[in-house]
Amino acid sequence: MRILLTGVAGFIGFHLARALLARGHEIRGLDSLNSYYDPQLKRDRLSEIGDRLGFSFREVDIADPEALETACEGYSAEVIIHLAAQAGVRYSLINPRAYVDSNVHGQLNLLEHARTQSGLRHFIYASSSSVYGDRSDGPFRETDRCDAPASIYAATKRSGELLTETYSRLYGLTASGLRFFTVYGPWGRPDMAYWSFTEAVLRERPIQLFNGGQLRRDFTYIDDIVEAIVRMAEVDPEAGHQIYNIGNSSPVTLDRFVRAIETSCGRKAIREYAPMQPGDVGETYADVSKLEARYGYRPQVAIEDGIDRFVTWFRRRSDL
Ligand SMILES: NC(=O)c1ccc[n+]([C@@H]2O[C@H](COP(=O)([O-])OP(=O)(O)OC[C@H]3O[C@@H](n4cnc5c(N)ncnc54)[C@H](O)[C@@H]3O)[C@@H](O)[C@H]2O)c1
Repeated sequence: MRILLTGVAGFIGFHLARALLARGHEIRGLDSLNSYYDPQLKRDRLSEIGDRLGFSFREVDIADPEALETACEGYSAEVIIHLAAQAGVRYSLINPRAYVDSNVHGQLNLLEHARTQSGLRHFIYASSSSVYGDRSDGPFRETDRCDAPASIYAATKRSGELLTETYSRLYGLTASGLRFFTVYGPWGRPDMAYWSFTEAVLRERPIQLFNGGQLRRDFTYIDDIVEAIVRMAEVDPEAGHQIYNIGNSSPVTLDRFVRAIETSCGRKAIREYAPMQPGDVGETYADVSKLEARYGYRPQVAIEDGIDRFVTWFRRRSDL
């Protein structure tokens, strides 16, 4: 199958590309390699993918409609998997425009591209659990109201969902939006807590636990995310626009998360407690029954196993 995959040099895109190529699919990968976090990590991911048969890469900013069309020229995809985005909740308070550029204009440009593709079967794209806002009454269901985003990041992700809903109604686009819940694993993101906490513990530096450590996150291991997206790409999609939660459906306290890191690192963390951060939410908790009913799959990896795999990779890469 021919797949257009945006954000291919990112954490999730990279793992997904490897899995899809291993299954014999063809990929045109797009990414701007921006410097939100170390672009060398993105280049290293691309080197890991290497020159595999069926893989081509174009460096492009999807917020630029003409550049996007040029990057897609001559490539008629059967499935589009759109993961490129300005991620991260905290940075959206510092640089809100980057989020509107990549997540709203970028989504619009991908949708405009998609509607002209006659051979396209399925438009799959990344949304986020952050669209649920600051709630503590989980599990969150896809049918819940999502009109109180706590961050600009969340607002742009919700905007992407609404734009896609409109394109689906106007042009009959078959689309699936995936609300990911805190994804982690090897080749992950340096801006996320599992990375910065692991590095701090190994360097014997303090870690900051926000909201006095009273946060719960539905951590989802990367292989579980990849398995779900591969299934979605390969089977016949449901018509219209569907939204699916992809989460572990078992929220973990910050304390259990830190204990998992301590066990894997073989060292104690130096804990510092800090207030809740603006834009942050107290809890995330996915109801995944819709995903399971449609695709016969639900995430499985427990936090202790997943963190152990991350720490093993991190130590090898960093020599810590
Ligand atoms: N990792 C998570 O916990 C998580 C949770 C919820 C949602 N998501 C969503 O999943 C998707 C993938 O996330 P990730 O964790 O792999 O993040 P990532 O930052 O590692 O990957 C995103 C990639 O998109 C690229 N990109 C950003 N703006 C671009 C632009 N304008 N043009 C072209 N490329 C651009 C970046 O260079 C990066 O390589 C994103 O849409 C993100 O919002 C991730």
